Amino acid sequence: MSTTPPRRTTIIEPFKIKVVEPLAFRTPDQREENLRRAGYNLFLVPAEEVTFDFLTDSGTTAMSAAQWGAMMIADESYAGSRSFARFERVVKDVTGFSYVIPTHQGRAAERLLFSVLLQPGMKVPSNNHFDTTRANIEQLGCEAVDLVVAEGRDPRNRAPFKGNLDLERLDRFCTEHRERIPFGMATITNNTGGGQPVSLENLRGASAIYRKHGIPFFLDACRFAENSYFVKLREPGQSERSAREIARDTFALADGCLMSAKKDGLVNIGGFIALREDRWLDRLRSQLILTEGFPTYGGLAARDLEALAVGLEEVLDERYLEYRLATARYLAEGLEAIGIPTMQPPGGHAVYIDAKALLPHIPPHEFPGQALVCELYRRDGIRTCEIGSAMFGKTVDGVFRGAAMELVRLAIPRRSYTQSHFDYILEGLTDLAPKRESIRGMKLVFEPPYLRHFTARFAPV
Ligand code: F0G
Repeated sequence: MSTTPPRRTTIIEPFKIKVVEPLAFRTPDQREENLRRAGYNLFLVPAEEVTFDFLTDSGTTAMSAAQWGAMMIADESYAGSRSFARFERVVKDVTGFSYVIPTHQGRAAERLLFSVLLQPGMKVPSNNHFDTTRANIEQLGCEAVDLVVAEGRDPRNRAPFKGNLDLERLDRFCTEHRERIPFGMATITNNTGGGQPVSLENLRGASAIYRKHGIPFFLDACRFAENSYFVKLREPGQSERSAREIARDTFALADGCLMSAKKDGLVNIGGFIALREDRWLDRLRSQLILTEGFPTYGGLAARDLEALAVGLEEVLDERYLEYRLATARYLAEGLEAIGIPTMQPPGGHAVYIDAKALLPHIPPHEFPGQALVCELYRRDGIRTCEIGSAMFGKTVDGVFRGAAMELVRLAIPRRSYTQSHFDYILEGLTDLAPKRESIRGMKLVFEPPYLRHFTARFAPV
């Protein structure tokens, strides 16, 4: 008689490794010198001086043998390439949408769609708009409006779907501003809100509200597979369904999607717009030709389209998704266990350390998040990104106004680091919380007029 083996508790990397890249190890003195030279801004530290790079999960995926293999047989024809046909088939199959417009990355898709649909003075609601989405909307003289649920703004609230839209506010907002809303959005998972998922039920509600008001609905779908697996794990009635079915149900609620394929496309470059109807198609394609390229490659090489066609299938593998969500959870639990507070529950692609809670002795105008970013690099060559007062703080009439939260993001590249890397990092951070008092704040010594976090320079206080 056969019996089902007990379920294992160890979740493994569901792959073996064929190509490797050595980690760069530097001495503490070299790292201190790198920090000094970079003005204590990790964006300005050369990548080859970084041991563990958690700056972003975007475009940093390790590709599979199947993806590299597909790239070798790509058809690089300018028009009507076989590789485009394959890519288009997969996108249609995964999303259920009928029309596919390739772009070189997510923000190109944003610029293209928004330039066709927006006129100055319009408003676009979402849970939270990502930075580039917001910037592309504002650049056209329009307003990007965030309507995420209240629990999504509280780092210690453990609600399962903190990326949800506040449906009551959404309905009210649509009623009040109907004439000025050319389309509505939802970001899955909600990156700006911590990579938090949005439930299928909430998306159904948002879709119904948008439909009731006659407003087209677009998903910012760059982490759609991670969102689908969260739905499977957390939403009542979804546990027996496949991530693929859940993804199909998700896309079925929208009129189209914007995709940065650098995340759940499992590729290093790529993106697309997909649409249910051909309503805006001709205008989008004309614009596409102007700046991205012919509609069958849109700013990409055919080999990129091949890699993406394979990646969109691989990302829906449930062993992969189980492992993927377990990595962020493992790292967050490990940090909590050594007294480093994180945003809870962890999102899909990143862990956010609450620097305000960890370093209460550093006031916002001395940038606790930036101080922690430097400390993580100093200790073990770990590169992270501050999302706090260094990014958003402002001095108005001589008074410093800090950001709402002081977060440090560890975004996890896909299929690149293993559990022992995390164990090593956690071991190295064991005495961080006990020695927190020794971490000093930072002061700004140079600040550019826009997007200052990329090029600002700091010095220790
Ligand atoms: N939408 C979301 C939700 C994103 O997270 C990003 C990029 C984009 C759109 C833009 O896509 O980079 O391909 O142009 N997020 C990266 C990050 C940069 O680090 O979170 P892109």
